[in-house]
Amino acid sequence: MRDGLESGGVSEALLDWYDAHARVMPWRVGPADRRQGVRPDPYRVWLSEVMLQQTTVAAVRDYFRRFTDRWPDVAALAAAEDADVMAEWAGLGYYARARNLLRCARAVVADHGGRFPETREGLAALPGVGPYTSAAIAAIAFDEAATVVDGNVERVVARLHAVETPLPAAKSELVALAEGLTPSARPGDFAQAMMDLGATICTPRNPACGICPLRAPCAARAQGRQAELPRKSPKPEKPTRLGIAYVARRADGAFLLERREEKGLLGGMLGWPGSDWSETPRDAPPLDAGWSDAGAEVRHTFTHFHLRLAVRVAEVPADARPLRGTFLPRGDFRPSALPTVMRKVFDIAKGSFGGD
Ligand code: ADE
Repeated sequence: MRDGLESGGVSEALLDWYDAHARVMPWRVGPADRRQGVRPDPYRVWLSEVMLQQTTVAAVRDYFRRFTDRWPDVAALAAAEDADVMAEWAGLGYYARARNLLRCARAVVADHGGRFPETREGLAALPGVGPYTSAAIAAIAFDEAATVVDGNVERVVARLHAVETPLPAAKSELVALAEGLTPSARPGDFAQAMMDLGATICTPRNPACGICPLRAPCAARAQGRQAELPRKSPKPEKPTRLGIAYVARRADGAFLLERREEKGLLGGMLGWPGSDWSETPRDAPPLDAGWSDAGAEVRHTFTHFHLRLAVRVAEVPADARPLRGTFLPRGDFRPSALPTVMRKVFDIAKGSFGGD
């Protein structure tokens, strides 16, 4: 650490900066209100933290508003229909998070009288609540001195201490260093301040060191190496898988859809019936029909592979009997309830159907 700033100096400088520059977020109690004794609602903290995993603040805002308008507390969410929650989650990705969200809400109601446990340990025992989320809720909602480490915090700490070990191997080292910075006073604000700093100033590219509250103690900046850190081990290349999606429209405007199995990719989500997704997909039309190619393919990237999907379309008669899936009446079909890859399929398919 440089300029004689020990860890207390870092947290003090960061909290001063947060007092002036905290981002306003619909789930956040800002530092001024926090000082007046306003406490964050653990339900809103939990929901936002689950939504924010692997997703940006900008993408989450509208989802968070819709969820909290529709299900204002954990009891309301616990009583929701699974399909309604999956439909509201559609587009956010990583659908296991939505299934775990419901399991967790129901556990809070069934096992804890509708109140979230107030310690990191108690929170970590809830379904789907891992080390990151338990630390975030404990710190932000209950002011436990838990250290919260997401990708933003990893970057801030790697630069502050000029850590040379590449990610992901550096994770435990970075957590230990972050623990050394966490203050016992205002740990919730400190956690949020670290995340805000990483998102707005200590950004992956072109960090704004000139206005950074931690520029004095930052080892990477002193060495002019902030752009090189954190180092990252090269990721293995993603393979490409192929598949076919079938969009059948019945004469009355109903679409043939299928709920995917709970386990696996897009588990529990609504989608178009189709082949498997592999290097050599096996054609499996969900009903006998005059299928034609929609003329364009869908490209979508998942965590572990790229997908290229051919889109086949057919208009089918009112008495069509599918082998798989269910016809959803046109009034019940909302493309926004589909996961993004399935929405892309629909965007291509809809051009193939005549007017309504
Ligand atoms: N990213 C994830 N959680 C966050 C939070 N509580 N504040 C700011 N950014 C975040």
